[in-house]
Amino acid sequence: MKPVIQEALNRQINHEFYSSYFYLSVSAYFESLNLGGFAHWMRLQGEEERTHGMKLFDYLHDRNGQATFEAIAQPPIEFQSPTDAFQQVMQHEVHVTETIDRLYELAVQEKDYPMQVELQWFISEQVEEEKQARQILDQLKMIGDQGTALYLLDKELGERESDG
Ligand SMILES: [Fe+2]
Ligand SMILES: [Fe+2]
Repeated sequence: MKPVIQEALNRQINHEFYSSYFYLSVSAYFESLNLGGFAHWMRLQGEEERTHGMKLFDYLHDRNGQATFEAIAQPPIEFQSPTDAFQQVMQHEVHVTETIDRLYELAVQEKDYPMQVELQWFISEQVEEEKQARQILDQLKMIGDQGTALYLLDKELGERESDG
């Protein structure tokens, strides 16, 4: 594996672990509002991000590379409202999609074909991630962060199972 690819993969592992940390922070915010369903949903999302990081970690070693660890940045810890929190989640997923796209472009440029195949899974996953975040954000905008509708959405998000 070329050093430039190894560096880029390590950077992406850091992005995925940052995402995990960020979503755990959003989960903590929802816990503080006693919105247990939202907190549960974000906690699972944080766990899922960790599995993305580990998928790349394993791939790096399958290719005879090595994971090197950099500091994980502090995520936002305060949010104005549930809608604001999901707005930030949505923006973050759009940003992650851009980083995956750049990584794929690099793999094409460097003619690293196995890396292109590996990244196709992540490209499809980002479509799903953006869709999920957008749906919840749009629902929050519709119900305006309050009342019975927020309570019902919290119940619905609380039903998420861990494979999602
Ligand atoms: Fe991810
Ligand atoms: Fe996902």
